[in-house]
Amino acid sequence: MPRQILVTSALPYANGSIHLGHMVEHVQTDIWVRFQRMRGHEIWYVCADDTHGTPVMLAAEKAGVTPEALIDQARAEHLRDFTGFGISYDLYYSTHTDETRAYAEQIYTRLQAAGLIDIRPVEQFYDPQRQMFLPDRFVKGECPRCHAADQYGDSCEVCGASYSPTELIKPYSAVTGATPERRSSDHHFFRLGECAAFLQAWTRSGTIPEAAANKLAEWFEAGLSDWDISRDAPYFGFGIPGAPGKFFYVWLDAPIGYMGTFHHLAAQRALNFDDWWGPQSRAELHHFIGKDILYFHSLFWPAMLARSGYRTPTRLHVHGFLTVNGQKMSKSRGSFITAADYLAHLNPEYLRYYYAAKLNAGVDDLDLNLDDFSARVNSDLVGKYVNLASRTAGFIRKRFAGRTAAALHAPAEALVARFRAAADDIARAYEDGEFSRAMREIMALADLANQYVDANKPWEIAKDAARGADLQAVCTACLELFRLLTLYLKPVLPQIATQVEALLRIAPLDWAALDRPVLDQEIDEYRHLVTRVEPAHIAAMLQASAAPAAAAEAPPAGIAPVARAGIAGAAQPARSAPEEVARPAIPPIADTIGIDDFSRIDLRVARIIKAEAVPEADKLLRLTVDLGVETRTVFAGIKSAYAPEQLEGRLTVVVANLAPRKMRFGESQGMVLAAGDGTGLYILAPDSGAQPGMRIK
Ligand code: 2FM
Ligand code: ZN
Repeated sequence: MPRQILVTSALPYANGSIHLGHMVEHVQTDIWVRFQRMRGHEIWYVCADDTHGTPVMLAAEKAGVTPEALIDQARAEHLRDFTGFGISYDLYYSTHTDETRAYAEQIYTRLQAAGLIDIRPVEQFYDPQRQMFLPDRFVKGECPRCHAADQYGDSCEVCGASYSPTELIKPYSAVTGATPERRSSDHHFFRLGECAAFLQAWTRSGTIPEAAANKLAEWFEAGLSDWDISRDAPYFGFGIPGAPGKFFYVWLDAPIGYMGTFHHLAAQRALNFDDWWGPQSRAELHHFIGKDILYFHSLFWPAMLARSGYRTPTRLHVHGFLTVNGQKMSKSRGSFITAADYLAHLNPEYLRYYYAAKLNAGVDDLDLNLDDFSARVNSDLVGKYVNLASRTAGFIRKRFAGRTAAALHAPAEALVARFRAAADDIARAYEDGEFSRAMREIMALADLANQYVDANKPWEIAKDAARGADLQAVCTACLELFRLLTLYLKPVLPQIATQVEALLRIAPLDWAALDRPVLDQEIDEYRHLVTRVEPAHIAAMLQASAAPAAAAEAPPAGIAPVARAGIAGAAQPARSAPEEVARPAIPPIADTIGIDDFSRIDLRVARIIKAEAVPEADKLLRLTVDLGVETRTVFAGIKSAYAPEQLEGRLTVVVANLAPRKMRFGESQGMVLAAGDGTGLYILAPDSGAQPGMRIK
């Protein structure tokens, strides 16, 4: 029975470039969608740019363009990148549309009628110069716990403390540098607590992976608080009906963008919207998301839908974060790889295959280890898969006028049967999101096919003119095995599959084509399908990623190269403000001090003799530094910017007479000086010739 399935990937923010972290999710979704299409189901896959919020407004201002112009350009770039990776949306739209506005207003009005909206005052920081309320990430200042300077308003990058912006010492606006004032204004709240019973039941009804459901249980225990869904002008978003100067918070209308986008698609394809979103819908609704946005999709979103008369999602497919070579993606390490940088140097199907080989239904992080990536692509795709065709198709072309044998080589029959018998297991693995299991099973079949080739040695048979029929039969069997492998790999390797369909002159492969062997028919000439990954291509990609003036750093419309919040960081389930910061304002110069004050600070040249990660701390490295006269241990919040081995042996500058501070992991006996503005972190170093212990004056 064909199923009706509507699928979404999370909507990327319009103010950031698409990077390989996004690709984990969109490749994962696309593989699932392509598999379902091959099974003959009615499936629609939609996505859009998430366009609203303070960062887009400010980025547009900075670039001297309207927010609409900025989001149009971002959408074109995002679609270009996703298309480059073969992501096959039926529609890639935007949240800044009449459709999404209409659903946002309607849902809000219905929640209000149901008594689920409260209005009450909230006190927040306000930038008197820019005349706007400041989201937490737009307030900076000194950490109330460790006194590190220039920390964000929600957490300290040095000691990891979480706090509210009002606790910051000497706060300043990251927009203008002005000292913010505390001001109160009315905010609209969605009374989530009222939906607790419904949500407890919903989250335990097979809608989310178990690990995620366990996480939710902790949140239920802590109690569900009301959700602040309004922001004050100026804000780029949709105004709240009947509330002048108030706008829907971006996270209110972002998931509603799934509906607005589908509405647009429904109009294009003459679908009935209510069949898919109405309370009686029998269609399935699947959202693919990262674990950092589980809170929004498993609590706010189903509650909003259920209480405004819509259906709720069938299943959330939740994945972990991407690391590159075992570490968070980092611009300074050149491992913040944009989709565009990847596509300029490497075949997108390599990455699709590598991700598939590592993805399963769990929420564990996925590591892109670049050596492993080359080895796996070269050994599996080139060595095991493509070689089956490259070693046999030529004989069929040259020796048999391109015609395959009329029957299978008898010794290959059992093998072909075994290949076909694997179909159900492979399908189940795809269905369950266990792509790594599917890839393992497919590669195990490819091993068997290669054993068959090695046992029958077509290149030897070819030397014997009397064995023409054998040669044709063996090569035909190989091509049939190759065809079946291609069918199984098609959700992952759509481009290669299309080339193989042309080579074999067959109709587009789907699951029903399992028993349509490539017998007694003409095939095309073999052309190269895929080449090996070369280290030079990876090096070139990394170089492009590290280049400071790369497109991602300075796009023409002023689109800030921000990572999707949390894509490679620790999960922040209950973050109140996912707004991302474009390059922050330069902080104001601090109050004047006299030369006497300055000379009390003993700054010394130091050599880093040992650097180790502190495993329990996200940001910290433990450094052993040689100060000429003595050796000290210093904890530095620079883990995001430097791998320990990059630091050993280097000279830097240390505050040598800072009172020792007790930290959770030991005592810090000084401070390494580093420059940073939240987008990069750079330790200071003296000019060459300086020696450990020298005083800085
Ligand atoms: O975290 C993010 O990147 C958000 N832009 C995802 C939004 S998904 C949906 F709710 F729209
Ligand atoms: Zn701190």
